[in-house]
Amino acid sequence: MQPMTGAPIFARIAGTGSYLPERIVTNDDLAKTIDTSDEWIAARTGIRQRHVAAEGECTSDLALEAAKRALDAAGMSADEIELIIVGTTTPDVIFPSTATIVQSKLGVAGCPAFDVNAACSGFIYALTVADKFIRSGSVRNALVIGAETLTRMLDWTDRTTAVLFGDGAGAVVLKADSETGILSTHMHADGSKGDLLHNPVGVSKGFLPGEDRAGVVVKMAGNEVFKHAVKALDSVVEEALEANGIDRSEIDWLIPHQANLRIIEATAKRLHMPMDHVVVTVDKHGNTSSGSVPLALDEAVRSGRVARGQLLLLEAFGGGFTWGSALLRY
Ligand code: ACO
Repeated sequence: MQPMTGAPIFARIAGTGSYLPERIVTNDDLAKTIDTSDEWIAARTGIRQRHVAAEGECTSDLALEAAKRALDAAGMSADEIELIIVGTTTPDVIFPSTATIVQSKLGVAGCPAFDVNAACSGFIYALTVADKFIRSGSVRNALVIGAETLTRMLDWTDRTTAVLFGDGAGAVVLKADSETGILSTHMHADGSKGDLLHNPVGVSKGFLPGEDRAGVVVKMAGNEVFKHAVKALDSVVEEALEANGIDRSEIDWLIPHQANLRIIEATAKRLHMPMDHVVVTVDKHGNTSSGSVPLALDEAVRSGRVARGQLLLLEAFGGGFTWGSALLRY
């Protein structure tokens, strides 16, 4: 990575891609084994179905498919990529990182590759890091992925969490450009709220004697998370607008973290954004954590809704707590 001279200074999205595992589990499917219903889940969350990775299908496999599609869309080959970052909280293994596994599956070597763990904000964090690398002139392009197999750490008998999550991946290829691309990114965290949404299984903390599957599942104080998410997303959206001196009316598309339709609607309301300018995919795949924002972005691009030159506001909130935004011209 040699610094470029006279380099363009913006990171622009050159291509997007996404991937969802084949198997679909509907709300009605879940209602056969736990005390819930399609009506309850849809009314409280907007979710209708989620995709579940097949046995042996790992986060890196989902990430790889999304990455290939993003590279295709960008008209680039993997050996041109100078940096790979994967946002994930469900890596294939503790190490090597999922990013290095993806790199190897892409059949390339040499460029730096690493993971970012910021739970549901993982993609926004990863995008931020890649943007800084490109703006500083350290690399000319980057493959940024958000990929998760959240269903691997669900207690399928716990109706308060099992209905919310799904597996999936999304990716973008960023390229240095003299034209405006990413205008700003903002990241935040509040570690004091970690216990409200967490998976307590340990490595350095150690495994408890006799710890079984019950110890490795997602635990969440749903109500509390909801309130914090709405508040944090409100402020991060204001922050992005203020930092760029942009009026909310100038935003063409809000591309929010897909966790819960009610959280999305609350942010849209704050922005005075009609829902037909908000990309909603949560109904199709539930909360895919880091995968959610790039999945929604790719869907909006491929369906022709998002067009070149439009102004997009991406935002996310997740465990940690972590939250953040990216304002960009597509
Ligand atoms: N089916 C039927 N009933 C249920 C279910 C279910 N799947 N889950 C909970 N209930 C019951 C509860 O037991 C409770 O019953 P009770 O009144 O007899 O005690 C009742 O429904 C209401 O429960 P609440 O938890 O108050 O329901 P709420 O309206 O808060 O919705 C939800 C719960 C959907 C989890 C909501 O709090 C939420 O979306 N929170 C945000 C969590 C989230 O999205 N986390 C993801 C990670 S962070 C992020 O990405 C933003």
